[in-house]
Amino acid sequence: MSPFAEARVDLDVISANVAALRERAPGSHVMGVVKADGYGHGILPAARAALAGGATWLGTAFVEEALVLRRAGIRVPVLAWIIPPGAPLAAAIAADIDIGVSSRWVVDELVTAAEEAGRPARVHLKADTGLNRGGITAGEWPAVVEAAARAEAAGLLRVTGLFSHFACADEPGHPSIAAQLGAFHEALEHADKAGLRPEVRHLANSAATLTLPEAHFDLVRPGIASYGFSPIPGLPGTGLRPAMTLSAGIAVVKRVPEGSGVSYGHRYVTDRPTTLALVPLGYGDGVPRAATNVGPVFVGGRRRTVSGTVCMDQFVVDVGDDAVEPGEPAVLFGPGDDGEPTAQDWADVLGTISYEIVTCVGQRVPRTYLGAQAADPDAGEGTALVEGAGA
Ligand SMILES: Cc1ncc(COP(=O)(O)O)c(C=O)c1O
Repeated sequence: MSPFAEARVDLDVISANVAALRERAPGSHVMGVVKADGYGHGILPAARAALAGGATWLGTAFVEEALVLRRAGIRVPVLAWIIPPGAPLAAAIAADIDIGVSSRWVVDELVTAAEEAGRPARVHLKADTGLNRGGITAGEWPAVVEAAARAEAAGLLRVTGLFSHFACADEPGHPSIAAQLGAFHEALEHADKAGLRPEVRHLANSAATLTLPEAHFDLVRPGIASYGFSPIPGLPGTGLRPAMTLSAGIAVVKRVPEGSGVSYGHRYVTDRPTTLALVPLGYGDGVPRAATNVGPVFVGGRRRTVSGTVCMDQFVVDVGDDAVEPGEPAVLFGPGDDGEPTAQDWADVLGTISYEIVTCVGQRVPRTYLGAQAADPDAGEGTALVEGAGA
């Protein structure tokens, strides 16, 4: 674990983001999406911060992640929506975890697991309305709905939710948005006719929570927006603020002459006598190697650029003639208040999305927490997934 590096997470900011999203969807529940270790922020602290901000549900990709929440004593409804063969369905039923169903075989396995458990499984049927990823196709929907309704009548399963997921909600006006909304309404109508009475119908990710009130239904599922990023970069008036600041103390400072090749491959060559600062973070910590010569870094009160190849554990920044000392912080990204880059800035130069930048911050980087939820003794367990979750 690098003693110099830190991913500082302001949990009050996550709570405030969730509260702002809740205002966007009045009348709907908010599910805090905390998969992938809370998008890198720490699953338990992120979950508690989301709940403090008004979320009443939590969402994960895998049952194992949901079990981490339960083991920590979190009792609100939790939905896990990727169920590979071998997923611990009996444990999910015992822990009252809602299961997202994308295939008929999951209904059958849940029925068996529920018989063994002696209690019904809680199920959200997921309609594939056009993403063509997870979800039940329109062709298979009637058969799965009938099977679920039969299992419900037998007391082995309770359909607590019906849901779907957008393909292009981050491109307002994209024709697939209206098509998916229409297909979701058809799926709901069919389920209603079959007698299903779910507690929640849900479709909206962050982008739809922010821009599509007609997609809010009974519950919205914002992930990235809770952590402070708009999935539609530049969307005005979101009131969102990034919660994570990634920084490291400079480890080495040295003067080098003009013409010095820097880092592996000498992909950066100094054009004058200059000072180089070594930042002890690398691709082993989630700093993409593609940030070589382009990643923005805030050092010594100014925004600069990664100089040369990003290595596994370190990279170098040319700071010119500025006085920089070992131990001084290099800030890779934060909320941007003091001129430091944001994770969105990193995403922009790397041709990716803010999601990937924050989620990929490695487990070697200690998470530290600020805010009211940080006072909780368990709030610092940012590495909870190491306990054995499958994400
Ligand atoms: C089913 C589902 N709902 C909600 C989300 C949250 O999406 P976002 O982070 O874009 O809000 C995801 C993320 O991939 C998802 O898979």
